[in-house]
Amino acid sequence: MAPVNDLQARPRKPGYGVGAVPSLAKNPLQFFMQSLLNQGDLVPLNLGPTRLLLVHHPDHVRYVLQDNWRNYSKGSMWIAIRKLVGNGLLASEGDYWRRQRRLMQPAFHRQKLAELTQTITATVAEMLKDWQTASDQHQPIEMVHAMSEVTMQIIVRTMFGSDVSKDDTRAMVDAFTKALQLMNLRMWTFFLPDFIPLPGDGAMRDVLQQIDTTVYRFIEQRRQNPGGSDLISVLLEMQDADTGERMTDQQLRDEVFTIFLAGHETSATVLSWVWWLLWQHPEVERRLHREVDEVLGGRLPTFADLPNLKYTRMVIDESLRMYPPAWLIPRTAVEDDTIGDQPVKAGMTILMSPYVVHRHPDFWKDADRFDPERFESGEVAQRHAYIPFGEGPRLCMGNSFAIMEMQLIVAMVAQTFRLSLKPGIDIKPTTMPVLRPNQDVWMYAYPRPQDVAGRTWLIQSDREGSSVVPDAEAERVRG
Ligand code: HEM
Repeated sequence: MAPVNDLQARPRKPGYGVGAVPSLAKNPLQFFMQSLLNQGDLVPLNLGPTRLLLVHHPDHVRYVLQDNWRNYSKGSMWIAIRKLVGNGLLASEGDYWRRQRRLMQPAFHRQKLAELTQTITATVAEMLKDWQTASDQHQPIEMVHAMSEVTMQIIVRTMFGSDVSKDDTRAMVDAFTKALQLMNLRMWTFFLPDFIPLPGDGAMRDVLQQIDTTVYRFIEQRRQNPGGSDLISVLLEMQDADTGERMTDQQLRDEVFTIFLAGHETSATVLSWVWWLLWQHPEVERRLHREVDEVLGGRLPTFADLPNLKYTRMVIDESLRMYPPAWLIPRTAVEDDTIGDQPVKAGMTILMSPYVVHRHPDFWKDADRFDPERFESGEVAQRHAYIPFGEGPRLCMGNSFAIMEMQLIVAMVAQTFRLSLKPGIDIKPTTMPVLRPNQDVWMYAYPRPQDVAGRTWLIQSDREGSSVVPDAEAERVRG
């Protein structure tokens, strides 16, 4: 990699002033892409008292997130997120962050993940039984909600054990979705002091209280029944190697919130995009079906199958490239610095976008095309231009968990159904604050031909007397 200050950046123009706010507010993704194409790799954004710098080149991003990461704190845009996750890993800083990360990292080691496989596949199998009923009745399924529910169920069960009820999980999904929407406005008005009221502040307090009550109840239940193998039992047992301290209830609450927030909406939105992209690319879908049939032959996937589900992984990687849920990574400069040839003042907000880096024309050919094969070829030798999980010391702690979970879900759904978009739906990305489809993604689930031996995990009796919609109908809907 060339030293960042010698970088051959594309010609740079002076950036934008306050006049840019309406287009930024209207369509941030388009604004960010246009700023790269029209202004270059480093784009100052001068909003009166607030100075921002858009950083688009992967080498500059690496400089901020890795090479000189100590000079770039999470900063002001994270204040809104702190309202939700308190001092949890996602938002904490300094020695406290280091200690918490060291404490929690072992809970995400390979061996621990392997132990979670069965919980995940059992949860997905339950979802697919519900889908079977919907399919029999020719009812469409809304994918964003279905994926949110299944990933929330997975995170709740891996954190708190399998005895958490579906009602509790549904209530959590609804509450978190609402909290995320309410947080969006505070995030983009981060320069306004807290005492200035904004619409939605009261609703945010109510929803936080509702989530708090449920989470503290879960924690208390685990304290009463210690010794489980779920994540919360592991966190309750963990002691700091140096000080011997354990986490307090408040710290546990913050970390649980963090894992709920970081770990369900992100995977859920990627999966919604996966189904939509597969529907648009039947040749990719066919290759995926071939792989899951060959590797699994109709049985449930196990941890050992994951390396063999290579194409499944490529489909996920490519979906994450095109629609990275964490589309924006903000930082604040601690001291004066220089990025490339751009002077940076202490306190300046630095905005980096995996969405833009993943479509940077110097690194990705034909970036708007969905092409999982690029993850087989040398193109992704440009690994530093692929950052869906961030990079450097603050790299996503749940990245292996997320990939494992998504591989299992995609493989199990693809084994069982072909999904077909309800006609008349035109989907675009929106930033709320994760990158998600701008409207409901209603899809019909058509059973795949039963030419694969087994699939015994999908209870056959559930399907008796059903009126399965013939495949010809799927072809018609798909056009
Ligand atoms: C597709 C799914 C996911 C994506 C795209 C994603 C993306 C990210 C990104 C970009 C960051 C870095 C943010 C920054 O540098 O400011 C991050 C941090 C984090 N993620 Fe994820 N994430 C995903 C799933 C998960 C899951 C499943 C978990 C937990 C089970 C998780 C837990 C965390 C935590 C704890 C952090 C904070 C790490 C730290 O600062 O030390 N994430 N994630």
